[in-house]
Amino acid sequence: MRLRMLAKRVRDGSRSSLNRVVLRQGLATLERTLARGATPRERLLRTLERGWANSAWSADVKLLSAALYWLDRTSGPIVECGSGLSTLVMACAAAPAGRRVHSFEHDPAWAMRVEQVLPTRLARCVDLQITPLRSYGDFDWYSLDALTQPVEIGFVLCDGPPGTTRGGRYGLAPILGQQMAEGCIVLLDDTQRSSEHAVVLRWCDELNAEVIHEGGTYNVLEVRRGARQVA
Ligand SMILES: C[S@@+](CC[C@H](N)C(=O)[O-])C[C@H]1O[C@@H](n2cnc3c(N)ncnc32)[C@H](O)[C@@H]1O
Repeated sequence: MRLRMLAKRVRDGSRSSLNRVVLRQGLATLERTLARGATPRERLLRTLERGWANSAWSADVKLLSAALYWLDRTSGPIVECGSGLSTLVMACAAAPAGRRVHSFEHDPAWAMRVEQVLPTRLARCVDLQITPLRSYGDFDWYSLDALTQPVEIGFVLCDGPPGTTRGGRYGLAPILGQQMAEGCIVLLDDTQRSSEHAVVLRWCDELNAEVIHEGGTYNVLEVRRGARQVA
């Protein structure tokens, strides 16, 4: 029994070391690809997904592709709700452009996982904020109480907090809407779920935004004018 457990531990250990190498090499390839102005192939994004090894919860290839595509069409600070593989991928695009990724994560263990694999050269453009979810009355969202909030946000990838959170991802608009620049692009994942679809409709109203692209499982919104202040 002990031998079997030991063998499993060794196997798990070597699998996770291998994943780390795959991830590190994949990120370096992604940086080179973006530096050439090329579009990363699906195969490369799949390699990154494999290296990150959290496919049930992480941004999938389609969302990563969309994030890179739309991020490149914006300027200014980048905000991410729910860190993970997407943080690493967006850092590859943000670093050469001198942009910052402000990533909110409520779970310290997941933040640590990102920090452990974030190459130093990319870490300087990532502001990974570990912050609890708190009540804002009708909904829960990341507490920004102790944080300096980014202003004139140009791009948002909203992939958190988890769907089980009270109010889901709705809190982005009332809490950070005023900080979004005109033309800010908001990419919301999981819009095939009725709860996220309802969030899109509320955001369109509250952010003066329009859906400019509907992906299979995500929507892209553009903030047209200054966001409306929600009472
Ligand atoms: C949809 S995930 C965000 C994924 C992230 N954008 C990525 O590309 O990896 C939303 C939140 O779920 C939590 N989470 C991530 N992986 C998880 C797992 N395997 N089990 C439970 N919670 C997880 C983290 O707190 C994360 O912020």
